[in-house]
Amino acid sequence: MRKEDNKNLIDFYYLFYTRAASRLVPAAACGSRGGVAAMPHLTKAALFLIILTMIAIASDHGGLALKAEIKKLLEEKALPYKDFGTNSAESCDYALFGYPAAMAVASGECERGILICGTGVGMSLVANKIRGIRCVVCSDCFTAALSREHNDSNILALGERVVGLGLGRFIASTWLETSFSGGRHARRIAHITQIEEGKAPGLN
Ligand code: RB5
Repeated sequence: MRKEDNKNLIDFYYLFYTRAASRLVPAAACGSRGGVAAMPHLTKAALFLIILTMIAIASDHGGLALKAEIKKLLEEKALPYKDFGTNSAESCDYALFGYPAAMAVASGECERGILICGTGVGMSLVANKIRGIRCVVCSDCFTAALSREHNDSNILALGERVVGLGLGRFIASTWLETSFSGGRHARRIAHITQIEEGKAPGLN
């Protein structure tokens, strides 16, 4: 099935869900917050994640403990993931694990990716060398959310030595739950694609 068909399917399911929800939780039963508004935990972005998303994850030795925490988070959210390693605490080179994970996102095998190293910097540099990847290193939830809303980031890089396990988990959760706003931001993403194609942005 093509990705476009999948997106139409999500629209269909979401319409079905909102209709069903407004019958199950009528506005009269909960003031003005009837239907889906009364169940804000299941947003369209959440539905999209539950039905379609495969997350690529990878780390080097410097991000191994946070990767284990992120795997727990994904399991709690019932999100499938593919772990591209590393699986040992032995010192290793981040590109060897970040590259295949980022390639899985670029090829469409996975929808999004989370890469972790000591600072997040090495992993983000590797991922952003790949056409179609928009990887952001985040140390706060605001940047994580805005990188999805405005930049449609498809890979999150985290630095375990910077954010630790608790904040790293919050950042990943925020990033996973936030969707792209589109509109004027889509035009700006198109500029990035033009640069990837060797063109000056804004010129056709
Ligand atoms: C490994 O010591 C460390 O350099 C690596 O995890 C990462 O922080 C590189 O950017």
